[in-house]
Amino acid sequence: MAKVDKVSRKGIILAGGSGTRLHPLTVSVSKQLLPVYDKPMIYYPLSNLMLAGIDEVLIITAPDQQDLFRNLLGDGSQFGMQLEYAIQDNPDGVPQAFVIGADFIGDDPVTLILGDNIFYGQGLVQQLRQAVYSNHGATIFAYVVSDPERYGVVAFDEEGNPTSIAEKPKRPRSDYAVTGMYFFDNDVIEIAQNLTPSKRGETEIIDVVRAYMKRGDLSVERMGRGIAWLDVGTHDALAEAAAYIQAVDHRQGFKIACLEEIAWRQQWIDDDQLQTLSKSYGNSPYGNYLSGLLEHRH
Ligand code: G1P
Repeated sequence: MAKVDKVSRKGIILAGGSGTRLHPLTVSVSKQLLPVYDKPMIYYPLSNLMLAGIDEVLIITAPDQQDLFRNLLGDGSQFGMQLEYAIQDNPDGVPQAFVIGADFIGDDPVTLILGDNIFYGQGLVQQLRQAVYSNHGATIFAYVVSDPERYGVVAFDEEGNPTSIAEKPKRPRSDYAVTGMYFFDNDVIEIAQNLTPSKRGETEIIDVVRAYMKRGDLSVERMGRGIAWLDVGTHDALAEAAAYIQAVDHRQGFKIACLEEIAWRQQWIDDDQLQTLSKSYGNSPYGNYLSGLLEHRH
């Protein structure tokens, strides 16, 4: 992987929420810290932001969990990036991320990724890079799933333009779910500040997307079936995701979402820094993998 230039765009990972669907796993620890095979869940969305070239990321957590995330990821300097932290007091809806993060975002465009979304596969990085360089309007990703009623759903006309978008519709108009990764221009802050809560008492990210659609400023990119999009919100999904990551890891000997490796391959850190990081993991398979990267240089 060649040098990847950092982009002037902010990233936010929303890792709040009470995770009640995963109780008792999430009684004392955030869902986004649970293991997905060999690493905490948040590594996966963070890896996607890094692969997009985003090096300034705000991690939004539940109030009592912030220290746990901070202990895990620190200030990001070990990856040649900047990590900041903020708190979501109540899970009042995804768009709150832009209100909480307004100062952090400043005048830049922003990419939001939900902390329980995992993306992996051929062609993903190119799609992320394209979206990152579109600095006006909104870009979202649509992905065919077997249970669209569980997600935001987008329908298209014959030319492939989006015609409607709905949150968890009983009768979905297509099989295209809206994934939990959203690229917005800076107007998103104002749009998020002026939303009214939906029937379930939360502001809805779909309403933000709809605002961009209304003004003709929404592009919906389809993610092909060669890409895996997993959202790890149930016990089965968690076990399935772990099995998937494990299978690829064993078959190839390459790790998915290894943050140190990504930072090194993108030349955000050098060989010495990678060596130091590998030592910090002691004699674990993960630490050995990192030192192996320096020896084998695939
Ligand atoms: C949220 C969004 C939904 C989107 C999904 C992706 O749903 O509201 O539009 O399709 O994330 O993971 P939630 O996971 O909060 O039910």
